[in-house]
Amino acid sequence: MSSRIKIFDTTLRDGEQSPGCSMNKEEKLEVASQLERLGVDVIEAGFAISSKGDFDSIALIAERIRNPVICSLARAVSKDIQAAGAAIKGAAKRRIHTFIASSPIHMAHKLRMTEDDVVKAAVAAVTEARHLADEVEFSAEDAGRSEPEFLTRLFSEVIAAGATTINVPDTVGYLSPNEFGDLICFLRASVKGIDTVDLSVHCHNDLGLATANALAGVINGATQIECTINGIGERAGNTALEEVVMALHTRSDFYKAHTRINTKEIMKTSRLVQHITGSFVQANKAIVGANAFAHEAGIHQDGILKSKRTYEIMDADMIGLTEGTLVLGKHSGRHAFSQKLKELGFNLSGDPLNKAFDRFKLLADTKKEVSDKDLESIVADEVYQVAEYFKLKYIQIVAGNTTRPLACVQLKSNDELLEGARTGAGPVDAIFQTIDHIIGEKINLVDFAIHAVSGGTDALGEVTVRVQDNSSIYTGRGSDLDVLVASTKAYLQAINKMLAERSETRVRPTV
Ligand code: KIV
Ligand code: ZN
Repeated sequence: MSSRIKIFDTTLRDGEQSPGCSMNKEEKLEVASQLERLGVDVIEAGFAISSKGDFDSIALIAERIRNPVICSLARAVSKDIQAAGAAIKGAAKRRIHTFIASSPIHMAHKLRMTEDDVVKAAVAAVTEARHLADEVEFSAEDAGRSEPEFLTRLFSEVIAAGATTINVPDTVGYLSPNEFGDLICFLRASVKGIDTVDLSVHCHNDLGLATANALAGVINGATQIECTINGIGERAGNTALEEVVMALHTRSDFYKAHTRINTKEIMKTSRLVQHITGSFVQANKAIVGANAFAHEAGIHQDGILKSKRTYEIMDADMIGLTEGTLVLGKHSGRHAFSQKLKELGFNLSGDPLNKAFDRFKLLADTKKEVSDKDLESIVADEVYQVAEYFKLKYIQIVAGNTTRPLACVQLKSNDELLEGARTGAGPVDAIFQTIDHIIGEKINLVDFAIHAVSGGTDALGEVTVRVQDNSSIYTGRGSDLDVLVASTKAYLQAINKMLAERSETRVRPTV
């Protein structure tokens, strides 16, 4: 007997809380569409009360994405529950996810509430949420450090009030797999009505144990796993969807459990999230890292050639890691181009398709063969654009080993052309200083990374920058054959994201 495990994806909520991973409405819709193709059961689309942008994104996803349940997070207070209910109103299947902290440390210092206060607030929140959604999930924040007996009481009461899913978060990634498994086992045995609801696990990766803990939960009776693509999320992140799904799939003999995920969509989803957030996974990341299926050591290669199973426990094509059949070059037409994008998981039409095609033609004139990675980079560059408060018109750089680098930049803002020139310690410094001068603000650059999209000296350069504004981090990315142009695009995108969000006040959950 194999039990079915629901996959609750929180890339757009907990994942988006990770520094620099914020996404705009269109980007979130693109990710949600891919999550639907991936086959997740629930999409946590955001935290409705936190900002107008979050509210609007949830409402858009609720209207467009029909198969998965669409969920909004809400604290256990009426204004949050009402905002969540309003945001998911248009969804075919609705869920409100309400939470309150239950650990002694959170109750005493953060909430300043007693156990009785917390139970009262939780029951009231669940009761109110049930009027607005068929499914109500309740989370006891910091359950990992809560008294198991108090959790039993809290969960039993919210089930009686109408909760349909009970979630057990290890909010600070504190527990070991044995302890977390024991907690799930204890709750399964002690909470009244537990067999009538889903029992969910939500693990953070502070000690690198998020996947192990979630799987320990499954062994002990959890029926839902909360996770994010590539494991993005607060601090060290959340359980990575691709890891738990492939563990359950590859070791179904051991876990005796399965999900409804279409594993062949894993790689596309991972790449999409990497391009949109600018948060690239390390080469040795399990399942989706560049080296996850690469065999370098001679002894391994020899074994693989004799029998794949000597060193490979999964097939690369199981996660959709196949070399595409269509190779594009400068003679390829729009139809082949759009087919190829479909193969890569991008369903573009109209203006976005035209923009990406024009960009591809330019690239194909310079490069003999345009690789899949080039195409992904172009699409991310051209399609996931933010409102352009400042748009690049031209850039010229003078640099060399005997001259102080000088950048001349022209930007367009509304209909006005703005120009400036500055020298800098290096060419990138000169460009960024010039842009700061033009827009009249010293931008706080906190990270700058550059990588070649494919091999060869004619590779596209992809630049990711992060800029900080108060406590918020904004990521910008840009790609171009010229890495200085890519740097300029990335810097401007981060600035445009920052300006777009400045007018909005965000309330972040304290998780
Ligand atoms: O980590 C956490 O406790 C959360 C809750 C809101 C579920 O993200
Ligand atoms: Zn969390």
